Amino acid sequence: MRILVVGGGGREHSLCWAISASPLCTKLYCAPGNAGIAQVAECIDVAAEDIAGQVALAKREKIDFVVVGPEVPLAMGLADRLAEAGVKVFGPSQKAAQLESSKGFTKELCKRHDIPTAAYERFTDVARAVAYIEAQGAPIVVKADGLAAGKGVVVAETVEQATEAARAMLSDNRFGAAGASVVIEEFLVGEEMSFFALCDGEHVLPLIGAQDHKRAFDNDKGPNTGGMGAYSPAPIFDAAMQKRTMEAIILPTARAMAADGMPFTGVLYAGLMITAQGPKIFEYNCRFGDPETQVLMMRLKSDILPALIACADGGLKHFDLRWSPESALTVVMAAKGYPDAYQKGTEIRGLDAAAKVEGVQIFHAGTKPDGKRVLANGGRVLNITAMAPTVAEARNRAYRAVDLIDWPEGFCRRDIAWRVVGSRP
Ligand code: AMP
Ligand code: GLY
Repeated sequence: MRILVVGGGGREHSLCWAISASPLCTKLYCAPGNAGIAQVAECIDVAAEDIAGQVALAKREKIDFVVVGPEVPLAMGLADRLAEAGVKVFGPSQKAAQLESSKGFTKELCKRHDIPTAAYERFTDVARAVAYIEAQGAPIVVKADGLAAGKGVVVAETVEQATEAARAMLSDNRFGAAGASVVIEEFLVGEEMSFFALCDGEHVLPLIGAQDHKRAFDNDKGPNTGGMGAYSPAPIFDAAMQKRTMEAIILPTARAMAADGMPFTGVLYAGLMITAQGPKIFEYNCRFGDPETQVLMMRLKSDILPALIACADGGLKHFDLRWSPESALTVVMAAKGYPDAYQKGTEIRGLDAAAKVEGVQIFHAGTKPDGKRVLANGGRVLNITAMAPTVAEARNRAYRAVDLIDWPEGFCRRDIAWRVVGSRP
């Protein structure tokens, strides 16, 4: 099969790495890809959000199956346009992608189907939003309804912060249309967990969970980011917790989407808070997590490609995937300044030596080739990923590789998996 992966981050590198190992894959393209992806796929310079460009590429290269990595093209209808063009695709329709692209849509679905989530109200009127915040008190969470590149959620510690956030979204148009409606919800106390399940519109196949680290700096300090590191398995998410999550959250969601005429196909990514009352959903994403996918692909022992195809074909019912009992951990190396302004084009050295550390795979998140050199080309730049029998050893291996990378303009957290192995390696 001729496969096209859409995207160019670490998630897509790990997906390409796994797909390229499938005996079913005869030719692999990635658009736009990056310097690391170029080692396993032919990269074509078409942006992920260029919907017409991606469809034209799929037609021109006679692609049999497209795997869409990021949420923005899905929310723009890439899966629908590919299906219309007769190309099979992994990823939900624009309507089903509302699970990620509209927080209000998801909250209402949860309310209708009794799916455990934070208590909330939706607002378009700023005076009403402020009155609600004042009545509820802090801490409280203010969320822009639409996609805002990960910046649309404000976890407010005070009533003032929350009202400021609501004003910025509703009156000052901070996120444009994405913030014209807001969800204001209860602050959930607990441990965060990312859990993934494949869906074919009717059947659901649970994958595994991973724990991400959203804050930029050690000890969960600093601004929120797309994710600075992840590991799997995480002890809090044992088999019983996974079963409970499937029964209370994932299966009712998949059933509701089908009943509402927008069956979900692709991967459902549940952002969970494991609270004293059990798992609660605080967000859905309609795509794989980044950097969680990097550790998932390390632990996956089965061929991923037939499972992704089964999501499109409706054949998940009889599917099973095997996972390594070992631990995987990834450390994100980012450009200094990320998630705010940062420099591009700085040179990264030492990648070959780092890749030789036992159990290590280096996934590129934001790089571009320049002859033989590799240059940083994004905020999150590298995902140094390792497998080992224990989380502690996986972390040792990952940081051993990090320390061989010569990139003065980069930084990383040194405490990934602190909940399991403490703060310092
Ligand atoms: P998101 O951009 O939706 O991934 O949210 C960013 C972060 O906000 C999440 O990773 C959580 O840490 C936090 N968050 C979102 N909703 C809640 C909530 N209801 N209670 C506590 N924290 C939340
Ligand atoms: N790791 C967070 C995300 O993919 O949204």
